[in-house]
Amino acid sequence: MSASEPDFVRVPVLRPNRRRLNGDAAKPPEPPERSMPLLREQRAALREETATGNRRAVQRQHALGKRTARERLGLLLDEDSFVEIGTYRRHQAQGLKMGGSRPYTDGVITGSGTVDGRQVFVYAQDFTIFGGSLGAAHAAKIHRLMDLALEAGAPLIGLNDSGGARIQEGVGALDGYGGIFHRSVQASGVIPQISVVLGPCAGGAAYSPALADVTFMVWDTAQLYLTGPDVVEAVTGERVTHAELGGAEVHGTHSGVATFVHEDEESCLADVRHLLSLLPSNNLEPPPAAEERGATTDERPRLAEIVPVEAGKPYDMRAVVAEIVDDGDFLEFHTEWARNVVCLLARVDGEVVGVVGNQPIVLAGVLDADAAQKAARFVRFCDAFGIPLVTLVDVPGFLPGADQERAGVIRHGAKLLYAYCEATVPRVQVIIRKAYGGAYIVMDSHSIGGDLSLAWPTNEIAVMGAEGAVNVIFRKELAAAADPDGLRAELVAEYTEQLAHPYHAAERGFVDDVIDPAQTRAAVARGLVMLRDKRTAPPRRKHGNIPL
Ligand code: HXC
Repeated sequence: MSASEPDFVRVPVLRPNRRRLNGDAAKPPEPPERSMPLLREQRAALREETATGNRRAVQRQHALGKRTARERLGLLLDEDSFVEIGTYRRHQAQGLKMGGSRPYTDGVITGSGTVDGRQVFVYAQDFTIFGGSLGAAHAAKIHRLMDLALEAGAPLIGLNDSGGARIQEGVGALDGYGGIFHRSVQASGVIPQISVVLGPCAGGAAYSPALADVTFMVWDTAQLYLTGPDVVEAVTGERVTHAELGGAEVHGTHSGVATFVHEDEESCLADVRHLLSLLPSNNLEPPPAAEERGATTDERPRLAEIVPVEAGKPYDMRAVVAEIVDDGDFLEFHTEWARNVVCLLARVDGEVVGVVGNQPIVLAGVLDADAAQKAARFVRFCDAFGIPLVTLVDVPGFLPGADQERAGVIRHGAKLLYAYCEATVPRVQVIIRKAYGGAYIVMDSHSIGGDLSLAWPTNEIAVMGAEGAVNVIFRKELAAAADPDGLRAELVAEYTEQLAHPYHAAERGFVDDVIDPAQTRAAVARGLVMLRDKRTAPPRRKHGNIPL
């Protein structure tokens, strides 16, 4: 062999060269003899153990309205795109009946595939094997997948259906969870992490959905809790069903852990695909853009009809959103939790945007502790993945009262402030009708870093509404007046004329432009184009201290 020949020629697996020397070139290579039975054995074992799990368990899964892990992968991924890794992995435990049962996959299928041609990494827990419980081998497979996803810069999707830590593996299982949580936090803000809860998700398993960017649950079949009903009863005496403890209603409406709730697995996994079409693969890539729609010149006269002029009259902010975004199409996060604020992904002129809006049909659109948390998390999610923010403001203020103070409205409101103050993506604010007090500041005003502030001509921006303001400023005069109502009406008119209109704010630079409502879509689209190449350099520090 000459010195110029590459090294790999010397590697013995290149048998064709040798066969040619023997005059046997036409014949396909024979695998070594001993590999044939092994191959047959493995194929049979794989068919039996990895395709379905045991038949009774599969039947039970189907009877509950659940799919098997492989069926779910079939629904989620593009056809024939799945590349599985770690199929032969098995647990090494011996005691507690484990030695006699060592199924391949160890109860989780891991690999990579594509969704609309874009790469994703996915694990699917298989409830038919040890109830999808997580032991050391199961965890190690997920760890490896997470490492690969992070290195490849591709989204990670977890299909959860698990009884939690595999009891027979003790601390090995707990260590496995720790490794998942640690990786999840390292990957946070780098690749999108999507958690889909399709069955029980108990104990340690519950923290993966909580750490994910977005969590899906399926009505009736998904449950998410730290301890099951039996343990709850033993510890507290409280008797609750699985659904009452951690069903989709609990997490979709009350706790806010579930971002999306679906009727069935098919629609759930279809929506995961839809969500992925709006997200970048990682924090260094832009979100996938669609075709431009001529939005920069698009007039929407219906907007002025949707929003009543009277500041106290309700309307659905989603109807406003539908006029501003492309095709009236949007994906709303947390539709049932903290409904007084809406958070959604949509496109404006083909570009993905995150919209935050006060919702006047719920609690008159006030901000409270839950709404602040919901919006804060959404703002941070958008900022992490380079999604510009459009904030639609129509807010009477923060909800006052002892209940809210005890619920931590200050701490949670500070989260929203923090999230906006920190966000470096393009930020456009549209003040639709009213913006009072701290809620005006927090809904992406210039003072906290908003880039472009637009206001409709009819609106009021002030410390508080005219009536309340007059009652405070002129308390003594009103008490002494012969006709307090008449005086109040006069003072309200004076206050409104002087302060409660957008030109007061525009003259002082707090608002960049007062726009015709019909031009809102066009103005937002033009603003986003103007800000497209925005770059900021955040101060050097280890990390900030968000009021968690
Ligand atoms: C080992 C488990 C298991 C587990 C279920 N199985 N959970 N095996 N470890 N954690 C097994 C069952 O023994 C059974 O095996 C099979 O999975 C199916 O379970 P069933 O109970 O028959 O199913 P079902 O009636 O649908 O009930 C599902 C369930 C229930 C609600 C999830 O199994 C359950 O309550 N499991 C325990 C949940 C739990 O407390 N997990 C530990 C959490 S502690 P066979 O052989 O009979 O088919 C934890 C700590 C980590 O996770 C904390 C880190 C922060």
